[in-house]
Amino acid sequence: MDSIEIDGGIPLRGEVRVSGSKNAALPQLCAALLAPGKSTFLEVPDLADVRTMGRLFANMGAKTTRDEGAPGNGHTLHVDAAGLDNPEAPYELVKTMRASVLVLGPLVARMGRARVSLPGGCAIGARPIDQHLKALTTLGAQIELTHGYVEARLGPSGRLRGALVLFDLPTVTGTENLMMAASLADGETTLENCAREPEVVELARLLIAMGAQIEGAGTSVITIQGVRELKAITHTVAPDRIEAGTLLAAAVITGGDVLVRRAREQDLEAALKKLREAGATITPEGDGLRICAPERIRAVDLVTAPFPGFPTDLQAQLMACLSVAEGTSRVIETIFENRYMHVQEMSRMGADIAVDGHTAVVRGVARLQGAQVMATDLRASASLVLAGLRAEGTTTVHRVYHLDRGYEALEKKLQGLGARIRRVKGV
Ligand code: EPZ
Repeated sequence: MDSIEIDGGIPLRGEVRVSGSKNAALPQLCAALLAPGKSTFLEVPDLADVRTMGRLFANMGAKTTRDEGAPGNGHTLHVDAAGLDNPEAPYELVKTMRASVLVLGPLVARMGRARVSLPGGCAIGARPIDQHLKALTTLGAQIELTHGYVEARLGPSGRLRGALVLFDLPTVTGTENLMMAASLADGETTLENCAREPEVVELARLLIAMGAQIEGAGTSVITIQGVRELKAITHTVAPDRIEAGTLLAAAVITGGDVLVRRAREQDLEAALKKLREAGATITPEGDGLRICAPERIRAVDLVTAPFPGFPTDLQAQLMACLSVAEGTSRVIETIFENRYMHVQEMSRMGADIAVDGHTAVVRGVARLQGAQVMATDLRASASLVLAGLRAEGTTTVHRVYHLDRGYEALEKKLQGLGARIRRVKGV
């Protein structure tokens, strides 16, 4: 297993380009299963999760091929779903990537049946999919849970039928799954209490380009008029707002001055508000955002929430920044029940953080010390890299396969900003 070594204390300077969005690309690739033909996706990030999705599709008879892009400019991925013949997502693939659940809606809608392994929990929480299943049942799917698999099939009508679906809570992939399924249903579907994330809006835009009739994406009520067939398309994946936020946080924790290219103000309003409150200056420049940070930021409180609230996927990264802020911050994680796995690792670097249930009290310290630390999940591993950028001495982050799931060559991007960071190939 690879690890990443960082010699901290260098303020980051220069410009860096954000890759395509993991959480936009994954549902969009699944949407390609809805159309009998070859769809093409540009600016697809080269990530472990994307490669896993490709293996999943191959297993289902949907051929995926990749054109190598210019380095750092993403890759082009072709998904030919004409030959889709096996509606199964097996345990050995689903257990490595929960987002596999996003094939459920498309398979039921396109093939009338699906056998998808239950994703099970992960480091940050139980991650149930009850909302997905309840909503698909409302559209007429017959669903059974047998031997750890979701077995879904259509009723005698042979097609999902439009209905009113009320989610108990805003779920990102739940909203995405149902938008895809309802696109081929018979009649009108109204989804209420939807997630409003930019990735949901992106997916709706793609589905509409494929011929779907969708209104309201980005609000909590989405209406879909089912159509008979969708067509394959060519689509460019939008920049990754969480990677952009992570790179902005890297500039903040090192007191740097960085232009994050392709960072978009409208995707990150809540996070930018907190970074500005903490003392960073952030201004639009070219196609991105320039951030200039003081040597030491002020403490701020933050509460994670569904979009447009502060994104849970940036909580660990901001906590790293707050661990060396002037003052005490309160962080409240409201989305996942166990998303503080980075705290004990940061404490080994000298951070002073006390967790009590969903609340973490972060007392800013003057300095962090480099240490050996263990990555536990995707965003926790990013936060440990950030802490290492600030710490005195050398930090080694182990198990960076977590990082590789969601960041394309992060250490190369940080090297380009002057960081002394290197990947150590594992045995
Ligand atoms: C998406 O996960 C993202 N993943 C996550 O990013 C992100 O943290 C999360 O949304 C919240 O923004 C992708 O888009 C691939 P949810 P998702 O369903 O859809 C509960 C990353 O780091 N819930 O919005 O799985 C759930 O337990 C990843 O890139 C149910 O109870 O999240 C959680 O508490 C991590 N039942 C809350 O809702 C359900 O059926 C929000 O989860 C579904 C969800």
